[in-house]
Amino acid sequence: MDYDLFIQEQIAEIRSRVGEERAINALSGGVDSSVVTVLGHRALGDRLRTFFVDNALMREGEPEQVVKVFSGLGIRVELVDARSQFLEALRGLTDPEAKRQAITETFYRGVFRRLVCEWGAKFLLHGTILTDIEETVAGIKRQHNILAQIGIDPEKEFGYQVLEPLKTLRKDGVREVARRLGLPPSLTERIPFPGPALAARIVGEVTEERLETVRRATAIVEEALQGTGAFQYFAVLLQDRATGIRDGKREFGQIIVIRCIESRDARVASVTELSWGLLHALAARILELPGVCRVLYDLTPKPPATVEYI
Ligand code: XMP
Repeated sequence: MDYDLFIQEQIAEIRSRVGEERAINALSGGVDSSVVTVLGHRALGDRLRTFFVDNALMREGEPEQVVKVFSGLGIRVELVDARSQFLEALRGLTDPEAKRQAITETFYRGVFRRLVCEWGAKFLLHGTILTDIEETVAGIKRQHNILAQIGIDPEKEFGYQVLEPLKTLRKDGVREVARRLGLPPSLTERIPFPGPALAARIVGEVTEERLETVRRATAIVEEALQGTGAFQYFAVLLQDRATGIRDGKREFGQIIVIRCIESRDARVASVTELSWGLLHALAARILELPGVCRVLYDLTPKPPATVEYI
């Protein structure tokens, strides 16, 4: 694949589709939406506005970090506080597909529609990649960002058209495009983070308290495993509880799973052979979190497991 040609073609395509109209895009700070942001700004300049939607499901310090990195690249990112909207939409939901559906609806029918209307934009640029489309169409799971491919007409449903410049690439291809666009390694080599964010790592109901637990565990896992070079690593909060002992007393506590995988493009994955020393040290730190009394290491490859837990 000639990636430089791909870049030129996508910029030309965005320009010709958007014409004299305006577009918006949402930047999560992951490599896919980062690449779309840069392609979009090269194609449209000021006719593209880029938003970081704080959906209450992001990792520690993420909103501030993303705004800072892009301001260094000369791209203004506007913060949108949609925390209560997402928490409200997720309240009481435990079924994984219902949670994904609620997140999709809140993004597309709620937040994006409002942003598009307020600015008179007609287009949303989107970081959908080929793997997202394939797995949704195969019925494995509904990726949060798949619309047209499952029969949803965004213009009719939400009032704007969706452009997907990366839909022919997989993760490794997107990273190569990111490098050629001159993005810093902190973005091009960033581990994948799903659109449903920490909600994909909470089995059962998503509440502020449960988000806080998985957010803190995620920060510990990311810091401890960043030197491993693994494809993706994160923490998961299970719905089950288990008996433990804290300060000499019985505690029916929370269970955190550590997941760390090797993969090229997330279609298949194997489990990283972490050393016992590293796993023990990691477990000890996670067990300091309030209410967490067990830590497990997930030994399941993909397939049969998916990478995320919902
Ligand atoms: P799964 O869990 O489907 O994950 O095996 C494969 C890769 O995709 C990421 N992932 C998502 N990315 N929206 C996204 O943008 C989603 O809804 C979504 N679900 C999973 C996941 O982190 C992994 O890298």
